[in-house]
Order: sequence, then C-alpha cells, then structure tokens
Amino acid sequence: MAEGSDIIILHKILITAFVITFVYNYYTEYGITIIEIENPTFSLLGPFNTTQIVADDNYNQLIDIDQFTFKINPQPCENYSAGFLLMIIVTSNPSNYENREVIRNTWGKNQDSTKVVFLVGESENINITNQITNESKSFGDIVQGSFIDAYRNMTYKHVMGLKWIVHHCPKAKYILKADDDILVNLPQMLRFLSRELSPWGAKDLIACRVREHTKALRYKSKWQVTEKEYAPEYYPTYCPGWAIIYSQDVVPRLLKVAQDLPYFWIDDVHITGVIAEKIDVPRTQLASFILSTISIQTLKALGPKYIQQFMFSPPDMSLNQITDIWKLISEYKY
Ligand SMILES: *[C@@H]1O[C@H](CO)[C@@H](O)[C@H](O)[C@H]1NC(C)=O
Ligand SMILES: *[C@@H]1O[C@H](CO)[C@@H](O)[C@H](O)[C@H]1NC(C)=O
Ligand SMILES: *[C@@H]1O[C@H](CO)[C@@H](O)[C@H](O)[C@H]1NC(C)=O
Ligand SMILES: *[C@@H]1O[C@H](CO)[C@@H](O)[C@H](O)[C@H]1NC(C)=O
Ligand SMILES: *[C@@H]1O[C@H](CO)[C@@H](O)[C@H](O)[C@H]1NC(C)=O
Repeated sequence: MAEGSDIIILHKILITAFVITFVYNYYTEYGITIIEIENPTFSLLGPFNTTQIVADDNYNQLIDIDQFTFKINPQPCENYSAGFLLMIIVTSNPSNYENREVIRNTWGKNQDSTKVVFLVGESENINITNQITNESKSFGDIVQGSFIDAYRNMTYKHVMGLKWIVHHCPKAKYILKADDDILVNLPQMLRFLSRELSPWGAKDLIACRVREHTKALRYKSKWQVTEKEYAPEYYPTYCPGWAIIYSQDVVPRLLKVAQDLPYFWIDDVHITGVIAEKIDVPRTQLASFILSTISIQTLKALGPKYIQQFMFSPPDMSLNQITDIWKLISEYKY
C-alpha cells in the first residue's frame, strides 16, 4: 500500500519534471519571449487595417521657429514604398561623434527592416560643423535642423524628429526615439515588434519605462522648472526620452499638437506627457524589458538565454559598456 503510493508520487514527479523540461525547452529553443504586456491599451493591426500617415503640418515651421529647414536631410526610407518595420531616431549632440560611431558599429547597423538616423541641431563651433558635414557625407545618417543645438532646445529636436518621420519616413510601422548613450538589443526588439506585437504595426502605442507622479522640480538644478514654464505641481504620466516606442499613427497626431502649443523645453514631459494626454493615448509600461543596472555586471555569467530577456539598456551607458554588451548579443545565435 505505502509502496504503491510512493510509486505514484514518484511517477507524478517524473511527469511534472518532464513537462517542465519540455515547456522550458520549447520556450528557449523557439525563442518565445516570456515577458508579456498585461492589459494592453493599444491595438494591433492586421493586413487589412493598417494606418497611414498624412502630412498636414507646415513644413517650414517648427513650433515657434518660422522658416525652419532641414540643413541636412538624408532619405533612407525613400525606396521602401511597401514600408518597413522600425525607424530609429537617435537624438545626439553634434559633438558626440564617438557615440554615433559606436552606435553605427553595434546595434545601429542598418538592415532592411531597420534604419537609424541621428538628429542634431546646428553647432556654433566651426570644427564640429565640419565634422558633422563629413560624417553626413560618409554615412548619410545625419538629420540636421536649423536651430542651435542646446540643452533648452531639446524639444525642437524631438519635434523635428516627429516632423521628419511624417514628411520623410511615413511608411515606418514603429518609431523608436532613443538617446545616443543607450544600447538597444535590436534582434530582441525586432522580434518583439513583429511577433509579440504585429508586423503590420499598432495603433495608440507610446511605450517606455513609464514615469508616474513626478514632481516638477522648483529648486536650483539641471531640471529646475519655474511655475511660469510649467504651472502644475506634478507632471503627467510620461515616457523618459532615452527610449520611447511610437506606433506610426501617433506621430502625426503628436506633431500636430506640438506645433501649436507654447514651447516647453523638457521634451519628454511635453510630448509624451502633456501632448499624449491631449491626443488621449495612454503610455504602455515596458519596465520589465529594461536591463537592470545590476544585471549589466552579471550578464556574462547569466548566460546567453538572458540576452532574450531585455530590449534596452538603462540610460547613461558608457561607450565601452555598449560595445561589451553588444558583443554578447551578437555572439548569441537567434
Ligand atoms: C485590426 O485587425 C485585427 C485583426 O486582423 C484586429 O484584431 C484588430 O483589433 C484591428 N485593429 C484595429 C485598430 O481596428
Ligand atoms: C533609391 O533608388 C534610387 C534609384 O535606384 C537611387 O538613386 C537612390 O540612391 C536610392 N536611395 C537610397 C536611399 O538608397
Ligand atoms: C578648430 O580646430 C583648429 C585646428 O585644430 C583649432 O586651431 C581651432 O582653435 C579650433 N576651433 C574651435 C572653435 O574649436
Ligand atoms: C572633413 O573632411 C575633409 C576632407 O576629407 C578633411 O580635410 C577635414 O579634416 C575633415 N574634417 C573633420 C573635422 O573631420
Ligand atoms: C535655440 O535655438 C534658437 C533657434 O536657433 C536660438 O535662437 C536659441 O538661442 C537656442 N537656444 C539656446 C538656449 O541656445
């Protein structure tokens, strides 16, 4: 009797172990992302209900800058009339040549489903201006607008990115806006967009590591904001600017409102907070897709499977960190 039930228990344990092993192998072998977005507030598109960008803003106006022009304006999207999956716009300081070089050599390598351009303003230093011209000739990936590149001009740059998408890359299904000091796990990101989301795109998607209930800082600091600039005590829920995913449809809607609102220099709060609320698009939380600072040190030890678990590094990475993590990613076979 006792012996019999022991055997049954053993049997159950073996079956459970077998099922766990099978499921684990299935997930890891077929590379299915285990993290999922709960209660999505966006919708996914299919082959018969795609969206389309119609440009209807004044091309030569950027918020309160009249006679705006693109000083440098490459057209990496022009021959993709059927569209492609992901356009990446990286906001960069003109002097950050090394960051751009590292991105070009790591996660930002152009391929058919993804293109990268760097958004810059004008520099007042002639050497940097020459450097930008040279870089643009060599790589064709610099988008430069006619405003001085400055900290308080970040919103011009971000809105210029939206404008550039609307007028020059309207066929991209998804747009990633990134800073030039992060790493994107691009293979994982492409899989996420085309498999977890949809290769036809999505609607009402603004996704990032969402920040909620953030106070506007009134004391002296890099982020000090006066009540005249922004009156309420708290910012709306918003997406920090270092990594934001937009679906195609939200870009012209954000642009349209941004063009008409008074200038506010904190671009991410303004665009993904204030304006996103005006067009009524919720922000989707991607916190679980971000590599934790602790895991950066242990990424090697955690093994290649861990590579599948994140889509972005945290912000403010060193160039060596970007290169090192990319090496691990590119060694991993999908
Ligand atoms: C588009 O079609 C898919 C089915 O193909 C459906 O699941 C989805 O809800 C539709 N999305 C919108 C925005 O209509
Ligand atoms: C697009 O195709 C045209 C004609 O083949 C070519 O001249 C142009 O350089 C291409 N543009 C890009 C960005 O590849
Ligand atoms: C530009 O470079 C030249 C030669 O290296 C140097 O003499 C000059 O001071 C630099 N100008 C500025 C504005 O940095
Ligand atoms: C840009 O290229 C020109 C010609 O190739 C070269 O003479 C110049 O030194 C370069 N300038 C910079 C800043 O790289
Ligand atoms: C921002 O750009 C405008 C237009 O080029 C310029 O007039 C202004 O001085 C710039 N702001 C800063 C803080 O440099």
